[in-house]
Amino acid sequence: MVLPMNSTPSNHGPHVACIMDGNGRWAKRRGLPRTAGHTAGEENLAEVVRIASARGVAYLTVFGFSTENWVRPKAEVRHILSLHKRLFGRIEELNANNVRINWIGRPFDEPGARTPAFVQRAIRQAISDTAANTGMVLTVAFDYGSRAELLRAAQLSISESISGIPITTLNVQSHLYSPELPDVDLLIRTSGESRISNFLLWQISKAKVYFTERSWPDLDANEIDAALALIRQ
Ligand code: FPP
Repeated sequence: MVLPMNSTPSNHGPHVACIMDGNGRWAKRRGLPRTAGHTAGEENLAEVVRIASARGVAYLTVFGFSTENWVRPKAEVRHILSLHKRLFGRIEELNANNVRINWIGRPFDEPGARTPAFVQRAIRQAISDTAANTGMVLTVAFDYGSRAELLRAAQLSISESISGIPITTLNVQSHLYSPELPDVDLLIRTSGESRISNFLLWQISKAKVYFTERSWPDLDANEIDAALALIRQ
C-alpha cells in the first residue's frame, strides 16, 4: 500500500522542526575539517530520527540545505550533497523505523532551482521506497528557503484570483511546497544561535522555540526530551 502524503501518520504526535546548526564549530573544536562536522551531523540526524520516532513525534522537518547555502566553498557543498545521498539512501533503517520520507524545496523545474540530478534521484527514490510507512514523516528541506516558498505561494494565489478564487489563508497554504504538513509545534535550533534563518516562516507561526548551546552533532535524547517538555506540560 502506498500512502499519499496527505494521509496523517498513525501516532497523532507533534510536528518538530530542527535547524541543524554548528557542525563546523563542532569540527573546529576537535581540530577536524568542517566536512567531518557535517558527516557527524548526518550521522546524528539518523540518531535523532530514531529518537523522535520512538518519542511519538508525527512529523520531523529538518533544514538540510538552504537556498543561501550554495555560496559555501565548492568542496563543502559537494560533501554536504553527498551526505544527502547517504541520508536518502538509509532505506532499510527508515523502513525499520516505519518512517516516511518527504521533501520540501524549490521545485526541480523552477527557474533558479539548484538541486542536482543525483540528489533529485535520491529524493525520488527515498520517497517511493518509504511510501508505505505509516509512522513519522521525515521532511528534508533541501534547496529550501521560506521566502522563495511564500513568494511562489503568493504568486499562485494571485494567478488563481484572476479566475475568481479568493486569496485566503487556506488558499495560500494550499500552495506551500508540502501543504499537508501541519503547523510546527516545536522548533529546535542548536549551537547557540537564536535566529530563524528563513526556515518555515509560515508554518512556525504558533510554535514554541527551543534554543540550545549544543552543536547539532551533540544533540542527544536528553536534550530532545528537554525540548519536547516545552510542548508537553
Ligand atoms: C550547519 O552547520 C549545517 C548545515 C549547512 C545544514 C545541515 C547539514 C547537515 C546536518 C549535514 C548533513 C545533513 C543532511 C540532512 C544530510 P554549519 O556549517 O553552519 O556550522 P557552523 O555554524 O558551526 O559553521
